[in-house]
Order: sequence, then C-alpha cells, then structure tokens
Amino acid sequence: MRIVDLRSDTVTMPTPAMRKAMYEAELGDDVYGEDPTVNRLEEAVAERLGKEAGLFVVSGTMGNLVSLLTHCPRGGELILGDQAHIFYYEAGGISALGGGHVHTVPNLPNGMMDPAAVEDAIRAPGNAHFPRTCLICLENTHNRCGGAVLSVEQMAEIKAVAERHGLPVHLDGARIWNAAVALGVAPSDLAAQVDTIQTCFSKGLAAPVGSAIVGSRAFIDEARRNRKIVGGGMRQAGVIAAAALVALDEMVDRLADDHANARLLAERLAEIPGYDVDLATVQSNIIRFGLTRSDVTAPQVAAALTAEGIKVNASDAAHIRAVTHYGIERDDVLYALEVAERVMQSVAVA
Ligand SMILES: Cc1ncc(COP(=O)(O)O)c(C=O)c1O
Repeated sequence: MRIVDLRSDTVTMPTPAMRKAMYEAELGDDVYGEDPTVNRLEEAVAERLGKEAGLFVVSGTMGNLVSLLTHCPRGGELILGDQAHIFYYEAGGISALGGGHVHTVPNLPNGMMDPAAVEDAIRAPGNAHFPRTCLICLENTHNRCGGAVLSVEQMAEIKAVAERHGLPVHLDGARIWNAAVALGVAPSDLAAQVDTIQTCFSKGLAAPVGSAIVGSRAFIDEARRNRKIVGGGMRQAGVIAAAALVALDEMVDRLADDHANARLLAERLAEIPGYDVDLATVQSNIIRFGLTRSDVTAPQVAAALTAEGIKVNASDAAHIRAVTHYGIERDDVLYALEVAERVMQSVAVA
C-alpha cells in the first residue's frame, strides 16, 4: 500500500549529505568541550540566530526544560500560552524537576497571546502571597495553533510587556526556521525579540536528532550545567551534530516547498465535503482541520485515513493534524487528497 506519512515533520529521514557528514565527522569528548563538530554547530546556530552562544541538546523537550530550569528558580512562575507545547506535551518537566509554577494565558487562534492578558498575569512584586513571575514563553511557529506564524511585530508586543516588568522571554522556536521562511524575514529578526530560544534540527530540517538553545554567554554557561543535571552531557556527539550542521546549511530554504504543499493540501481539502478547513490558519507546514459532519469524530476519520495509508493524527476529538515535510512531494499531496475524498464518502458511523 502506498503510504503518505503526514503525522509530523519529525518522521523525516536524514538526507544522504547528512549520513555522509555523520560518517566523516571529526569527534571529541563534548563534556570536555572537545568535540569540534559540536562546537562548530553551537557557534553556527548562535550566529544564525544573532545570539552570543549556543548549546547542543538531545531534543526540543530537553532544550525547553534546560532553558526553563536556567531562567526560573524553584517556585518561580512562568507564563505560558494554554496551547503551548511546553504546557501540553512536555510531561510537566519544569514542575516535576524545577519546582516551576505554570500560569497559563489563552492562546488566540493565531498563536499569539493578548499582550494585555500577559501583562495581567504578571504578579505584582512585593506581595508575599504571590509566586514571583520569572519568565514569559512564546512559541513560533505554533504547533497546536496549526503552525500559525507570529510576526516580528507580534513578538515585539510581548517583548515590550516583558521589558516593562524586567522579565526575560523564552521562545520555543522548534520551527523558527519555518516562521522565518513563511514571513520572508531573517531568523535573527525573530530571535531579536526574545532572550533565549530552543530550536529543533529534527523537525522540518530533517536531522535525525538534536536541538539547540541559544542566548547570552552567561545564560548558556549556566544552561550547560543544567543540561548535565538532566543527563544531557553527551560524549562524541559530533556524530549527530554533523547532521544538524547540514540541516542548518542545506534544509532551511526548502521549507518553502513544504509550505506550498501544505497550502495545496488545505485548499483542496477545503473543497471536499466533510472536511472543515480554516485556510487563514494555514501559514506554514501544519494543517489542523475539523469536520463538518457530526456523526463521526476526528479520531475515527484519522484512523480511517491511516488505514488507507494516509497517516495523520487526531489532535483532539474534533481536529486532525497533517504536516508536510522533506520526503513529501506534490504528487503525494494529490494522492492523499484522492484518498481523503474516498475515505470521507465511506467512513461509517461507529
Ligand atoms: C513546538 C514544539 N516544541 C517542542 C517540541 C519538542 O521536541 P522533541 O520532540 O524533540 O522533544 C515539539 C515537538 O514536536 C514541538 O512541536
């Protein structure tokens, strides 16, 4: 059966250039700071995002956790969108391991938080009843908001609030590269609106493993210690950093193809009776869509599509998520649409 895997951009396989770079990577012990390939990657990603220093970590989840541990003391309160990946999908790491206290603010459908609501959530200092606000987190592109892209101006609005209160801003920039390509701006223009960023090489950039944190040198020195605490000090990590370097150098510009494929998928899906697609929310490589039928649920339709080889995930009872990525061509999208039409006609009431 022909398979089109649209579950996530994390399913991407490394490119031939990545495999070659991994084989040939110059290595050392990175816990001693002696892996030249890791060092090159950390410098390259910091430079690309306009920050002083970088730190290679295993995953996006570890990158966010180590960043939050570095920003927030125990009992510190961090402000998160209520749809944030950090809030939803990272196993409550900052509470479990860092004693962090999470204060959510509603995410708007466009991935933004109302700056006034963020400002309201900041605790007045000096009142012993309150936890102390220590951080504001943003996400760009926004996963649960269907890959919505925050503009430089939107991010600047949150930065202005943070500055008024002397607070740092952390960006979950797992897909900051998609955001930059979608907006036609330099990734560093987005990064300039925040203090620290976690970004992934293993999403649309197709590297097999790895993320980085970037920020000031002092922040990264402290984060390096926290990475060690969570067991993230790796030895000859240049084997995987080599693929991440190829990802940075060769895989960013092609994200425009993923965005065009997502747009095509969304526009044609919107024409098929039964699917409910809000085209305004399709801004990068993620499509989050609903159903116009009330006799079937999103998990049932997702299961029916998957059974026919079009792998997708239901993100809740009412929504399905499809993600385009390296390895998905225009022709795969057209085939997925054909199957999607057939499945919608045949999917039965449970
Ligand atoms: C926005 C966002 N942040 C963080 C992560 C976590 O990345 P990882 O799966 O590498 O831990 C993901 C994963 O999909 C994500 O979409």
